[in-house]
Amino acid sequence: MISLSGIKPTSTPHVGNHLGMILPAIALQDSYDCRYFIADYHAMTTVHDAARMREYSHGIAAYFLAFGLDPNKCIFYRQSDLPQVTELAWILSCMTNMGLLERAHAWKAAKDRGTAGEECHGLFAYPVLMAADILIHDSDIVPVGKDQVQHVEMTRDMAERFNYAFGEVFHLPEAKFNETLHTIPGLDGRKMSKSYGNTINLMYPVKTLKKQIMSIVTDSTPIDQPKDYENCNVYKLYKLFASPEQIAQMEENYRTPGFGYGHAKMALFNLLVEMTEKPRQIYEDYMNHPDTLEDVLRSGAQRASVKMNEVLNRARVAVGYKSIL
Ligand code: TRP
Repeated sequence: MISLSGIKPTSTPHVGNHLGMILPAIALQDSYDCRYFIADYHAMTTVHDAARMREYSHGIAAYFLAFGLDPNKCIFYRQSDLPQVTELAWILSCMTNMGLLERAHAWKAAKDRGTAGEECHGLFAYPVLMAADILIHDSDIVPVGKDQVQHVEMTRDMAERFNYAFGEVFHLPEAKFNETLHTIPGLDGRKMSKSYGNTINLMYPVKTLKKQIMSIVTDSTPIDQPKDYENCNVYKLYKLFASPEQIAQMEENYRTPGFGYGHAKMALFNLLVEMTEKPRQIYEDYMNHPDTLEDVLRSGAQRASVKMNEVLNRARVAVGYKSIL
């Protein structure tokens, strides 16, 4: 069974990406044939700076490796190292109605903001490229955060339409997301999102991480009164990482007068620093040795191309082109 997913290198991953997609995807590496990639073609919709494109891509690669992705077990590659997917995207594009793409959340949001006319075509076509990423590996499951589930549904629609016209070329994938994972709160309590500027980034320098944690919004219950942990952003975040014993202790702390939000934030900060000590070393080591990262990605691309060529040829022949790969 094939598990496939990608992540856009538009910044360093935040806790929402970490829990929503990165850890669940890595957790599948022993039981699935995993193919994960850095979606730098997708990042092109917003990143228009070569140095940033390279740096963010390396950052994502280092992040996955730091948190346990084993490049010998998985096929781990950078999307732009292989052009096949863009060709398949064109073929799918010609089999995808504008109406389907107009229903995509990101496009609808742009319309609601009144900025659709200034968005690039890449944003509109984004779901087609994503469908190509998924279909070109005959993927069975696609571990993603909730916000990407619609794209996987659209992928199925495109594959069905193509198969109806040309025969059984594509395998229909399914999204896999964690239903028990509720929306992860950002620093201000809204959903954690880069676009809200309310993220926590585990691989930021420790000092910056501390600043982020200290700026989590809390209510103004005085220190000498018990506090309502259920509605506290610090507690909600702590709960996502702590052990059951640590959570029980934290709840007790909140009930105890004299325990303030500053203490809770320090506890969260210490927990995160401790938990990420080893990944941070690995991350920094890779970031200081980009050649090693490039070696990992090159080997991943070589292995990924085998399946991609096979599926692309299948699609080419089905529509009446020659098999060339
Ligand atoms: N759209 C995804 C995101 O923004 C990234 C992505 C690109 C992806 N292609 C994919 C995810 C294929 C899963 C499968 O995070």
